[in-house]
Amino acid sequence: MRAIITARSETDDEVELTALPDPRPAAGQIRIRMAGAAVNAADLHIIDNARGEAGAGGPAPRLGLGLDVAGVVDAVGPGVRGLTVGTPVAALTFPHAPYSAAGAAAEYVIVPAADAAPVPDGVDLLDAATVPLNSLTAAQLLALLGPAQGRRLLVTGAAGGVGGHAVALAARAGWQVTGLARATDHTFLTRAGAEKTCTTLDGESGFDAVLDTALLNEAALRAVRDNGAYAGVFPGLEPASERGISVSSAVVVPDGILLREMLALTAQGVLEPRRAGTVPLDKAAHAYRAFRAGGHRGRWVLTN
Ligand SMILES: NC(=O)c1ccc[n+]([C@@H]2O[C@H](COP(=O)([O-])OP(=O)(O)OC[C@H]3O[C@@H](n4cnc5c(N)ncnc54)[C@H](OP(=O)(O)O)[C@@H]3O)[C@@H](O)[C@H]2O)c1
Repeated sequence: MRAIITARSETDDEVELTALPDPRPAAGQIRIRMAGAAVNAADLHIIDNARGEAGAGGPAPRLGLGLDVAGVVDAVGPGVRGLTVGTPVAALTFPHAPYSAAGAAAEYVIVPAADAAPVPDGVDLLDAATVPLNSLTAAQLLALLGPAQGRRLLVTGAAGGVGGHAVALAARAGWQVTGLARATDHTFLTRAGAEKTCTTLDGESGFDAVLDTALLNEAALRAVRDNGAYAGVFPGLEPASERGISVSSAVVVPDGILLREMLALTAQGVLEPRRAGTVPLDKAAHAYRAFRAGGHRGRWVLTN
């Protein structure tokens, strides 16, 4: 099969297309014929880590890229119940999977059946490919902040992949959401359910909680009231607690049951899938370059 992996360090492009043996699902796993695979910030971290190792004198590791996949089940391993060949599904590939030979940016993707969820009627598979990583991250980080109950939540990076999903999920759960993003994103934030929008943290204070997807760290913490809550996206990089604020962070974990809920919310229009662009696997380098350049809204999606 064709798969996207990190490039040799001496090449100009960050990624390259390679040929790998077709994978076969083991017990409890399904094989997805990929229709769409989103490019995420995590892919850039994988590329940078590979280059770092090469720069340190080691051999350039060739790592599979892609954490988000949508497609059609085309083989199932022994013991799989509930997902059959031909079912359209989406999945977050386990975060450690890209560090092996192939990730989601490949013709065929193996995932535990428990990590996948059917894509509901009416949701385009290319849109579905943008849902797993960002919605699961948003949902799992929001869960760290306690009950909504009309409390005030600030989301930084609110127009981003994680932030945009967080605004919509939090508003639906009953938070009073303020989204921090550029002025040009405020229409999107309002549509997602934000009650207020801001472009800087100047004058912003007294929030019960902050979900800091833009890694503003201490500056974001200052906007939280005493004994409030802070959730960050990078364990180890979060600010130190002060004024009794609970500081937490987490790495997303695959969860097929929660993903089923996220895809249902997508079908209902609560979550808005956003695509920056779509390119076939053999033109994938363009998508990683464009994502690296920034300014994207939504996700670049690689197609088979
Ligand atoms: N914990 C986990 O498991 C997990 C999972 C997924 C992602 N992440 C991490 O979460 C972060 C966000 O990911 P993402 O996919 O949402 O990224 P994204 O789609 O690129 O969005 C990031 C957003 O943050 C904004 N931003 C960046 N720096 C800012 C600043 N100084 N002030 C205000 N806004 C700023 C950007 O705004 P502009 O575009 O306008 O600059 C952008 O809208 C990344 O660091 C990613 O690695 C963690």
